[in-house]
Amino acid sequence: MHDSHAASLAWLDERVKAGGDVRQLADEAVRHLRAHYPHYHWVGIYMVEGDALQLWSWDGPAATQHVTIPLDSGVCGYAASTGAVANVPDVSQDTRYLECFLGTRSELVVPIRAGERVYGEVDIDSDRLAAFDATDEAFLSAFCQRLAERAEAAGLAGHVPG
Ligand code: SME
Repeated sequence: MHDSHAASLAWLDERVKAGGDVRQLADEAVRHLRAHYPHYHWVGIYMVEGDALQLWSWDGPAATQHVTIPLDSGVCGYAASTGAVANVPDVSQDTRYLECFLGTRSELVVPIRAGERVYGEVDIDSDRLAAFDATDEAFLSAFCQRLAERAEAAGLAGHVPG
């Protein structure tokens, strides 16, 4: 992890401790990630509601048409329905990929999960090929773990894969 990652996690710990509204926290989280990490060109938080993902918050150059994604669809649905990280270095080579932006070359989706329960996910698009490495995965997994604690405390239902 880089210093900036540690600083982001400390920032999020403060926000989680403050115990504010979960939706507001999601808004702040996407803005924080996009502002601090230049290769995160578009950042969204999707949350599980029933058998679909709903886009709660996003920050980026343009809105996506994918505001609702069924759990069996897309890279996003894959990550939420399995609870596994999806790091796609070249979206043009991945048959699961649902296109949002013409410029997107790679995508990283990290589940917001506590134990077996998946509450949602952070979805990041980059205009660079293979923009995300193991360091991004580790950082965002730690980031999402904190978001999951807040979602759990708020009593969100999420779902349990399988
Ligand atoms: N590409 C995603 C859809 C969401 S947009 O990237 C914002 C997918 O394949 O699920």
